[in-house]
Amino acid sequence: MRSIRFKLIAFMTALLLLLLLILNTYPISTSRDRVFEEKKNALTSQTVVVASSLSSLETPTADSIHDVLLLLDISGYMRTVVVNSDAVVLYDDKGSPGSLTDIDSLHTALNGNTVFRSSFEGGAFTSSCAVPMYSQGKTVGAVYLSEYDSKQAEMILNIQSRIRALSLIISIAAVLSTAIFSDVLLRRIEELVQSMRIVASGNYGHRLSIRGQDEISELGHEFNILTERLEDTEKQRRRFVSDASHELKTPLASIRLLSDSIVQSENMDSDTIREFVTDIGQEAERLQRTTEKLLTLARFDDDVQVVPVPVDVKQVALDALVFLRPLASERQVRMKTELPDGCVVMATVDDMFQIIFNLMENAIKYNVEGGSVLFRMEADESHIRFRVEDTGIGIPEEDRLNIFARFYRVDKARSREAGGSGLGLSIVHDAVQKHGGSIAVGENKPQGSVFIVSFPRPTPEETGI
Ligand SMILES: Nc1ncnc2c1ncn2[C@@H]1O[C@H](COP(=O)(O)OP(=O)(O)OP(=O)(O)O)[C@@H](O)[C@H]1O
Ligand SMILES: [Mg+2]
Repeated sequence: MRSIRFKLIAFMTALLLLLLLILNTYPISTSRDRVFEEKKNALTSQTVVVASSLSSLETPTADSIHDVLLLLDISGYMRTVVVNSDAVVLYDDKGSPGSLTDIDSLHTALNGNTVFRSSFEGGAFTSSCAVPMYSQGKTVGAVYLSEYDSKQAEMILNIQSRIRALSLIISIAAVLSTAIFSDVLLRRIEELVQSMRIVASGNYGHRLSIRGQDEISELGHEFNILTERLEDTEKQRRRFVSDASHELKTPLASIRLLSDSIVQSENMDSDTIREFVTDIGQEAERLQRTTEKLLTLARFDDDVQVVPVPVDVKQVALDALVFLRPLASERQVRMKTELPDGCVVMATVDDMFQIIFNLMENAIKYNVEGGSVLFRMEADESHIRFRVEDTGIGIPEEDRLNIFARFYRVDKARSREAGGSGLGLSIVHDAVQKHGGSIAVGENKPQGSVFIVSFPRPTPEETGI
C-alpha cells in the first residue's frame, strides 16, 4: 500500500526536478546568449567606427587619437587601445603608450581579423573587440575596445533568483498536493480492501458506502453488486440446505415412529404390522424420489458440459405419455395431444423427458376428476414451442412467481398427499434454461393452468438435416 504513495511522490519529484532544471537553465542561457549577441553587434560596430575614424589620421599620436576619441564620445568603455602595424601601442587609456601590448586579440586583428570576446562572470558581462585599421587598402594598425556591463547581468541574475524562489514554492506545493492526493486515494482503496476483507470473512450483509462518481466509486459500486449477489446465493444455499433437511426429516421421522411402534408393542397383530411396514415402504419411496430429484438438480448445478443433440420432441412426448397413462386413468383425467412432426430441439433426450414428464405429471396430479390435459406443439421460423394446458385447480397468481423455486408448493398438504416433493418444476426450469429455452406459466381459460415452453429453433447446420 505504501508503495503507491512512494511511487507517486517519486515520480512527481523526478518530474519536478526535470522541470526545474529546464526552468533554471534554459531562460537564463537564452537571455545570456541574446546579451552576447547584442554586445557583439554594438561593440563591433563601435570599434569599426573608431577604427575608420582613426585611419584618416596621417600621423597618429596619443594626443591626436585622444582628440578623435573625444569627438566620438566613447567614455562608457572600460579600456581603449590603439596600436600601429608593428603592434606598438599608440594609445592606451589604462596603460602607458609606447609599450608593446600584451592583448593577443590585437595581434589577431593586425592579421586582418575581427576578434570579439565576451564572458559572463562575477555578476557582470565583460566584452572586448579588436578590429584592424585600414588606410588605402593596407593594415596600418588595430583598435581594441573593452566594456564592463553589470546592469544587464544584474537583471539576468535577478530573474534567475526569482525563478528559483518561484520554483521552490511550486515544488513544495506540488509535492504536498501529490502527498495529499495520494493519501486520499489510498484511504479510499484501503476502505475498499477493508470491505472486501469483511465480506470475505463471511459478513455478506456488509456494503461499502459510495461517494463521488469516479473510477474508484465505480469499483465500489461493482463490489457492492457482487456482494449482493453473493449474499443472495448464500441465502439461497442456506434455505436450500434447511429445506432439503426438512424434507428428508419428515419421512425419516415417520419411519422411526412406525418402526418404534412395531418394536414396542408386544402383541401387535400381523395385519397392523403389515400396514405399518407398507407405510414405512411408502415413506422410503418418497425419500428415494426426493433424493433422486435432488441429484438431478445437483447435476444441473455442476455445470458439466453436455453436448446437445437434435431431439425429436414428439418422440419424447409419446414416451412420457406411456409412463403417465396409469396415473391419468387413476385420476380419471383425459390426455389429448397435438403433435406435428419435425419439431426438433437441441437438447438431450433425458432433459427433454424430464421437462415433458414433470409438466404433464403436474397437469394430471393437480387436475379434477373428469378433467383433461392437452399437450400442444407448434413451430415457427425462430422457435419450437409447446404448451401443457390443464383444466385443473389452477395456480393462484401470487404463487406463479415462486412456482419454480425448490420445494415450493402451493398447497403443501395436497402436494404431499400426492407424493410431491416440490422439486419437479425446479428441474423443468433448470433443464429448459440449460438448453437456452424459456418457460412461462399462465391461466387456462376457463379453468386450470397453462405452461408454455419455448426453445430456439436449431439451424440446419446444428441439426445436420
Ligand atoms: N398444473 C398445475 N396445476 C396446479 N398447480 C400446479 C400445477 N403444477 C404445479 N403446481 C403447483 O406447483 C407446486 C410445485 O410443483 P412441482 O412439480 O415443483 O412439485 P410437486 O409436483 O409438488 O412435486 P414433484 O413434482 O417434485 O413430485 C405443486 O406443489 C403445485 O402446488
Ligand atoms: Mg410435480
